[in-house]
Amino acid sequence: MADRILTSNLPLPADLPPTVASVDLSALAHNLLQVRRYLPKTCDIIAVVKADAYGHGAAVVSRTLIELGVTRFGVASLQEGVALREAGIRAPILIMGALFPNQFPDAIAHELTPVVYDLDMVGGLANSVKTRREPYGVHIKVDTGMGRLGLAPEGVLPLLQSAHFKGPLRAEGLMTHLADADGTDPAYSTAQLLRFRSVVTQIEEAGLSIPLVHAANSAAILCHPSGHFTAVRPGIMLYGYHQAPLDRASPELRPVLTLVTRVGQVRTLAPGESVSYNRTHIATRVSRIAVLPIGYAGGYGRSLSNRGAVLIGGRQARIVGRVCMDMTMVDVTDIPGVRPGDEAVLIGRQGSQQITAADLAVWQDTIPYEVLCAIGTRVTRIVRQRPA
Ligand SMILES: Cc1ncc(COP(=O)(O)O)c(C=O)c1O
Repeated sequence: MADRILTSNLPLPADLPPTVASVDLSALAHNLLQVRRYLPKTCDIIAVVKADAYGHGAAVVSRTLIELGVTRFGVASLQEGVALREAGIRAPILIMGALFPNQFPDAIAHELTPVVYDLDMVGGLANSVKTRREPYGVHIKVDTGMGRLGLAPEGVLPLLQSAHFKGPLRAEGLMTHLADADGTDPAYSTAQLLRFRSVVTQIEEAGLSIPLVHAANSAAILCHPSGHFTAVRPGIMLYGYHQAPLDRASPELRPVLTLVTRVGQVRTLAPGESVSYNRTHIATRVSRIAVLPIGYAGGYGRSLSNRGAVLIGGRQARIVGRVCMDMTMVDVTDIPGVRPGDEAVLIGRQGSQQITAADLAVWQDTIPYEVLCAIGTRVTRIVRQRPA
């Protein structure tokens, strides 16, 4: 579904569907400034726009970040990289997830930068680029303790000294990923960073150099300055959230995404009547129940059933009964005058109240990442431009 681009000073058009996610590009710009506050001026930013920029729309987010001076992007897969190229993004794009031999030709044709994490893969890639005039840039991923993609630290130098990096391939980046950057105890991250630094030192001592050295996600940007190296990879901070335990002031981030729907119907239930599948909510008083046209197929998780709330009339309305595929019911008994068509805010502000993706994450026993990424293609995205 194509994004609609609106400027924030225009009223929303009348033909909009009831459920809309607005992406506020001014908030994105603000959050980028906050990220930069933690970094030395020389540190490069690889903006993480995988999973459609955590549900915000990778193309529009990347375009905006380019206008703001970001020059590099990270995605999870070949498809995400190709989609960005097709949207006209020409900046370097790093494929941070697994890349398979049958995908090498496409990745190369689109000038996407693979992350390499094993010897066979490096051999296959080197073979795929052997007819090119210039060496093809890749980033080498070291597993320093995440237990996910990566080469063992002791495998990096021999790989760099292999024939593959003396012609077909060029090591443009060296990276690792921290397992517990948002944990309360820094010890594991410190140990991972020491392991990573010793790989960097080995490479330098062998007389080799790699321009982009990166380890830090948002939490490490905030909590582990020794992990900033020559580049960082922020994701969630750009979208207005962080998970890091901070003993100093939190960064002042602004949620970029707002999720709003409208009341479809208001029903009156007598005591003893029930709401939704399996009758998990039974009215104990005469109740007014508002039906909202969003459910788990739109990314509003079923685990919100009988947990959590939305904002209607500037007040919290509790979710009652099971969240269905396309509908959610909320109790508006104590909110006078609620009618079909009234706005219901699922993520965002209404009056003095606010619900964030972090609140939804608590109710759903998950993290804001999952809440944001879940908001599906069923939900129309509206982009609020930055003021000119
Ligand atoms: C390899 C890698 N780097 C960076 C990030 C960005 O992390 P965050 O959104 O916590 O900043 C991710 C996200 O999961 C990732 O997988």
